[in-house]
Amino acid sequence: MQEVKLDIPVTADSAVLWREDSLYLLDQRRLPATELFIHCRNVQETADAIRAMVVRGAPAIGLTAAYGVVVAARARFAEDAANWRKAIEADLDVLAASRPTAVNLFWAIEHMRKRIADSGDGDPVPGLLSEAIALHERDRTDNRRMGDFGAGLIHGPTSVITHCNTGGLATGGWGTALGVIRSAHAAGKLDMVYADETRPWLQGARLTAWELARDHIPVKLMADSAAAARMAGGGVGWVIVGSDRIAANGDVANKIGTYSLAVAARYHGVKFMVAAPTSTIDMHTADGASIPIEERASSEVLECLGQRITAEGVGAWNPVFDVTPASLVDAIVTERGVIEKPDREKIAAHMAGVA
Ligand code: MRU
Repeated sequence: MQEVKLDIPVTADSAVLWREDSLYLLDQRRLPATELFIHCRNVQETADAIRAMVVRGAPAIGLTAAYGVVVAARARFAEDAANWRKAIEADLDVLAASRPTAVNLFWAIEHMRKRIADSGDGDPVPGLLSEAIALHERDRTDNRRMGDFGAGLIHGPTSVITHCNTGGLATGGWGTALGVIRSAHAAGKLDMVYADETRPWLQGARLTAWELARDHIPVKLMADSAAAARMAGGGVGWVIVGSDRIAANGDVANKIGTYSLAVAARYHGVKFMVAAPTSTIDMHTADGASIPIEERASSEVLECLGQRITAEGVGAWNPVFDVTPASLVDAIVTERGVIEKPDREKIAAHMAGVA
């Protein structure tokens, strides 16, 4: 992977960039201290960047894969203009193998696969690029809509708790849960955002706090284990999180620690909102137990910022997502509106007619 400095102002919406016929990803592993980009020169580098967490967050992973298909098509068409459609299937598999839980990855690849099937005999790159750009723009627009729907549920001013990073960095822009928080703040409904630091990758500490501070939205960082005590202290109206995959019955996979937040929220009478585009709802996955949960290297838990923090010989369990049962969710918010107290029937009705 090639690291580059781009001569542009870096913002929360710079996660995935297509510039001068190339794909660049803001290296989120280095934020907030360093603002460097990774130049993805081929499909393998694109998949490696997703796996290595250069880019993360379900919608941003999907958009990266969509641009990755453009990069792959350019190479395959140049190699063999007659057979590129067959050859690119291997590249789609490489992208699909990068991370298993975020269903937006597979959703985006399927969109691009349909576009590949529809391309004529000429150069496929312009058509595929316009599809990837359209998905990117749609994600931004959907997030704004979701933000308004979610903010409509909040009767403020109140404080909220959020987990991981679900902002511009995790999406095409604005964010899902963080988009709701941005919209609620703009409507004067927020006292304070409590951001979980989100061990082991510290997406809350490094990314969410960075995004909110830049937008002058009041934020306090807390250890993940402080959340229940914060709820017990009062003044918290909502926990607002994103999702990597929502099953057909409304069970929600999201960053590890989300489930314990939902349990604590129900105990304390705090409402629990999940903001995610319909591309995160997987009608082919019946329930949470069927969602593949990514487990990553134990070194991520045994180390902190590259420093070993445990004795030699200690092992670790590192599932990076967990499943919150639908019964603990008060509302799922998508670009189509609000599903209160989600269940299989309500999800099916909400998804009717979604391509
Ligand atoms: O491992 P990550 O950082 O990719 O996990 C991200 C999350 O869990 C987010 O909450 C989720 O993808 C929703 S992002 C809008």
